[in-house]
Amino acid sequence: MLTPELIDRAVEILRRGGVIALPTETVYGLAANAEDELAVRRIFAIKGRPSTHPLIVHLPDAAALSEWASPVPDEAHRLAAAFWPGPLTLVLKRTARATDAVTGGQDTVAVRVPNHPVALAVLRALGGGLAAPSANRFGRVSPTTAEHVRQDLGGDVDLLLDGGPCTVGVESTIVDLSSDEPSILRPGGLAAEELERVLGRPVPVRTASTVRVSGSLESHYAPRVGVELVEPAQAASRAETLRLQGRRVGVLGPRSLALPSELQRFDVPEEPAGAARLLYLRLREADGAGLDVLLACLPPAQGLGVAVRDRLSRAAAPRPGDS
Ligand code: TXA
Ligand code: MG
Repeated sequence: MLTPELIDRAVEILRRGGVIALPTETVYGLAANAEDELAVRRIFAIKGRPSTHPLIVHLPDAAALSEWASPVPDEAHRLAAAFWPGPLTLVLKRTARATDAVTGGQDTVAVRVPNHPVALAVLRALGGGLAAPSANRFGRVSPTTAEHVRQDLGGDVDLLLDGGPCTVGVESTIVDLSSDEPSILRPGGLAAEELERVLGRPVPVRTASTVRVSGSLESHYAPRVGVELVEPAQAASRAETLRLQGRRVGVLGPRSLALPSELQRFDVPEEPAGAARLLYLRLREADGAGLDVLLACLPPAQGLGVAVRDRLSRAAAPRPGDS
């Protein structure tokens, strides 16, 4: 149970420069006071993440936006009004409040208002911004339960707030509004169709090598098991081929998929939002199942299916050290 006392304790720890893990609707975050440079540096140390990678600043409400970003263009106000609190991160020109430690020295800052009662309670009581990346070790699958955080970071955090399983399950959609043309830097928990509906114009996905988005490293979001992408219709025959080669195979795909009964299945719902919600849990389960190969079925590239495809493609990408 999350009591007001626990929220108070979290805020006290944050004010003293501590680092806590807390639930958001997307994934669990590893949070520190965004204005405390030493505390922010500890986030990088705990994650094992290069300190030049910028962090998202979480805010209690859209009214706090102008303290962290300037100018705030009309389109930012419209998206904030439509989707905050929610799984949307905006990249804007920063104010002095967003320090180099948070922005990685860039002249922009990433901000969002998370849609989770625990995260919002902490943010409101703190009355400031929380720098928070996902609460996993660098390059690994993001945590969607408190137990995942415990497995990854154990005693390295000063407090772990358990807010139950995350309802969205993939990270926020990152939209760059720092120039005239909006673009998506990372597909995520808010569908592009929704953004386009509000902005009334296309918002293309842009994976710019000039912007340091750690989620755009090829092998990011990687489970330990080898992942191979398949079209659902090909899953059964590909699995059989691999099995005949003596390899232990599992399949991650929709429940409705017909597969030989001896195959290990990691089922996700048919609709993309349901698949997104369970994706990281299933990848972790597959990791623990002693497989040689996980065949991952790609959902259609619509709605949250775009984010699921993105994460699965990264999980299947060559890893550093692969030959
Ligand atoms: O859903 C989420 O966004 C989760 C929860 C905890 O809020 N957070 C998250 O943080 O995914 P993280 O650090 O794992 O990913 C944040 C992404 C990184 O890829 C980072 O490079 C990008 O945001 N980012 C942060 N500031 C940026 C900036 N100024 N310009 C471009 N990308 C930025
Ligand atoms: Mg992350």
